Amino acid sequence: MTTTATKSTITNNAVYINKMFNKIATKYDLLNNLMTFGYHYNWKVESIKLALTEIVNPKNALDLCSGTGDLAIILSQLCPKINITCIDNSNNMLNIAKSKTKKLNLNNTSFLLFDFEKLSNEIAPSSIDLITIGFGLRNLIDKEHSLENIYKLLKKDGVFTCIDLGHPRNKLWEKIFLSYFFNIIPKLGQIFAYDKEAYTYLPTSLNSWYKQDELKNIILKTGFEKCYFKDILGGAVAIHVAVK
Ligand SMILES: C[S@@+](CC[C@H](N)C(=O)[O-])C[C@H]1O[C@@H](n2cnc3c(N)ncnc32)[C@H](O)[C@@H]1O
Repeated sequence: MTTTATKSTITNNAVYINKMFNKIATKYDLLNNLMTFGYHYNWKVESIKLALTEIVNPKNALDLCSGTGDLAIILSQLCPKINITCIDNSNNMLNIAKSKTKKLNLNNTSFLLFDFEKLSNEIAPSSIDLITIGFGLRNLIDKEHSLENIYKLLKKDGVFTCIDLGHPRNKLWEKIFLSYFFNIIPKLGQIFAYDKEAYTYLPTSLNSWYKQDELKNIILKTGFEKCYFKDILGGAVAIHVAVK
């Protein structure tokens, strides 16, 4: 009984999240720029650069929950010889990623429309050098299982990087940050994406999201040899890097 209820909640949430990203896709980049004053791109660059300190000449990479493709674009520009597969289950988000990479003439990126939580044998185990995920793990329903799959897909010494929201350490800063998140972001969503609900989901998703140390410990528990994180903006955003 409990299992059935949990399964249906998971399915409902996953369907809701997928619909939401399909709906906001055309406004997603604009809203990211507005919400972060354009800084999200610099943070994404930092996340890729940090991961690249752990691996020399990665040959193939997966960008999970790729969305509109920023991390894949940054990685492709920093490592022109790498092959990157962008995975997302939102057709509309992925179409934007495709057109952005096309405009930039990046020909080392390919695209897979699928639900990573339903991964079976689409990608060979121990075949990937680098896996990136940006503001995506928080949106997956079974995060620990997804981390196990990430671990399984990486080669030995392969690298995983995750950039996502974090929990600020300073209480005053946390208050300011949460107030911005809960009061201003839904309004920006309403005005610029005509979707207050989607941009109310964003701050709400933070409630059940790991603190930086918790995520680090879960990653290590998955089997990774090493994991560390870097706080950005006093911990409002965090980059985790792990090595298998
Ligand atoms: C907040 S966006 C992040 C996009 C991009 N990585 C970035 O950093 O801007 C989250 C993305 O995760 C995707 N996503 C959510 N659940 C997914 C799943 N189960 N499988 C694949 N993609 C998923 C959504 O469609 C969305 O594009």
